[in-house]
Amino acid sequence: MPNERPPAVDRLRTLPKAEVHAHLEGCFEPAVLEQWATQARVPMPRPREHLLEFEGLADFLHFLDWACGLASTRERLAELSYGYSRRLADGGAGYADVIVNPTHWRAWHGRLPDMIDAIDAGLSAAEQDGLPPVGLCVSLLRTQSSDAAIELVDALLALRHPRVVALSIDGNEAAAGRTGPRFAEAFRRAGAAGLRRTVHAGESSGPQGVRDAIELLGADRIDHGVRAIEDPDLVGLLVDRQIPLGVCPTSNLKLGVYPAIEDHPIDRLRRAGVVVSVNTDDPVLLGASLVGEYALCSQAFGWSDDVLRTLARNSIDASFANADVKARLAQALSSW
Ligand code: ADE
Ligand code: ZN
Repeated sequence: MPNERPPAVDRLRTLPKAEVHAHLEGCFEPAVLEQWATQARVPMPRPREHLLEFEGLADFLHFLDWACGLASTRERLAELSYGYSRRLADGGAGYADVIVNPTHWRAWHGRLPDMIDAIDAGLSAAEQDGLPPVGLCVSLLRTQSSDAAIELVDALLALRHPRVVALSIDGNEAAAGRTGPRFAEAFRRAGAAGLRRTVHAGESSGPQGVRDAIELLGADRIDHGVRAIEDPDLVGLLVDRQIPLGVCPTSNLKLGVYPAIEDHPIDRLRRAGVVVSVNTDDPVLLGASLVGEYALCSQAFGWSDDVLRTLARNSIDASFANADVKARLAQALSSW
């Protein structure tokens, strides 16, 4: 019922922007998961009415293994990827970098080229239908070994698939401990070969994780990064180097990083001069939409149109889109 949407939301939809922090793993519709589980005779992890209630990051990541395990065919993976691009268009975004972490997708283990090809098929079909282009950030898991990480990077570099724009790392830093040193060589190889680097840190880790992301992993961008606020020197470093943070407020609330939006540091980071953008993380599973995230923050922090323009501009600049896409989006933004 589009006519009943509040005008502010409609207006936020027209803001030209990009999304730089979202996971393909977070895009499953619960009804589809239930259908696939029934077909495969795989038990549901909990009753349908509580399916998307998570006890924190560890529980959430465990759920991802279950959900991704059901996406066993090329068609399912392609459709999921197509659906993400359609969701982007619904939110008025003109480009996204999307993360996929092969460790979650059991049916595809040992078949990385086929997996990337299936995702690429869905994203290419979306683009042909006029939906926004999407770059792929292939992700390591914090609890993997150094050897497994290097193996993945070497496989990506041998493949050189044009859809892949970056190496990423996600997962649970609280469970893994300090792992920056463990992944330094994998990130060094990726960077030396021209892949961009994006690093989850400062969500399940504190400031040390963010510092390691910069100093050991050479992060071009940090996913979350919000707990940098606990260390003023680190905030200064992010400002000096203009390293962007892909912030996901609803995710941080749902996974227990902060109790309420009023406690969330996105606005304090922004006012300190950190380059922040607004993103969904795991949109369907965590109930976040891009426009909804802008609306949530605008309302909580009283953001003006100028602030919204700056945040949208940050999202475009921080993205790994090519120069043409960036220029087109920046041009559209200048007349918003
Ligand atoms: N994978 C998917 N969502 C994630 C998050 N919020 N943190 C770490 N890894 C993730
Ligand atoms: Zn994330």
